[in-house]
Amino acid sequence: MSEDSPRLVQLRRNGAVPRHIAIIMDGNGRWAAERGLPRSAGHQAGMTSVRETVEACLQSGVEVLTLFAFSQENWQRPPAEIDALMALLEEYIAREAAELRQQGVAVRMLGALDRLTPSAREAVDHIEALTAGGRALALNICLSYGSRAELVRAARSLAQRVQAGELQPSAIDEAALSAELYTAPWPDPDLLIRTSGEMRLSNFLLWQLAYAEFYVTPVLWPDFGRDDLFAAVLDFQNRDRRFGRVST
Ligand code: IPE
Ligand code: IPE
Ligand code: MG
Repeated sequence: MSEDSPRLVQLRRNGAVPRHIAIIMDGNGRWAAERGLPRSAGHQAGMTSVRETVEACLQSGVEVLTLFAFSQENWQRPPAEIDALMALLEEYIAREAAELRQQGVAVRMLGALDRLTPSAREAVDHIEALTAGGRALALNICLSYGSRAELVRAARSLAQRVQAGELQPSAIDEAALSAELYTAPWPDPDLLIRTSGEMRLSNFLLWQLAYAEFYVTPVLWPDFGRDDLFAAVLDFQNRDRRFGRVST
């Protein structure tokens, strides 16, 4: 592997890195438009950024990386763009699965996966099975994901358990609801990164981001690399996380 960047050296010296980073990978279409290319070329180029970001997390000791790859609302895009994105998903899995396994990355896909094509579904099952048990990094890819839909699904599941007599309404607390979310196995994100300068959540992890630190960079996703991830972590290390209390 190449020599450690000065930012990586610095963030290691600083100490605590975020355990869980979530990223809204945005700006692929604008990246392509700037070059007179079709939007799909931006999505294609964004795959390199995913690889770099995973490597940066492995290098810096981040435990969980959750990427927003395709939202529930993105199903409203033109069919040709959706087809290109689904083809890219399969390409990503075919190209990266073996190496991710070797790196100790456990991949999970979170969202309404029943809307995927059968072949995309098969690819998802394949990479999850192949990489299960990886201990270096948990890589969650949110696909066909909407946070409000996730919360509705959780509420429905709790209601069914009450109706079945397994659960008392009074036993429904924050932990019980968290346990019904796709993200149940992992701690909440400490840091949310959004590329391309947009200052909104776009229906991403509304519950889980309650106390995350936000970092918005103007960099478009296909231009985002290892050093941009390190810059975000360095910024995070200077935040004063008060969680409603006063600073110590
Ligand atoms: C992010 O890039 C990728 C997806 C949402 C699938 P966009 O496709 O949203 O790119 P912009 O925001 O139009 O530049
Ligand atoms: C959010 O980006 C979804 C993903 C990055 C997958 P969008 O580009 O879809 O969000 P809006 O439409 O700008 O809010
Ligand atoms: Mg966008």
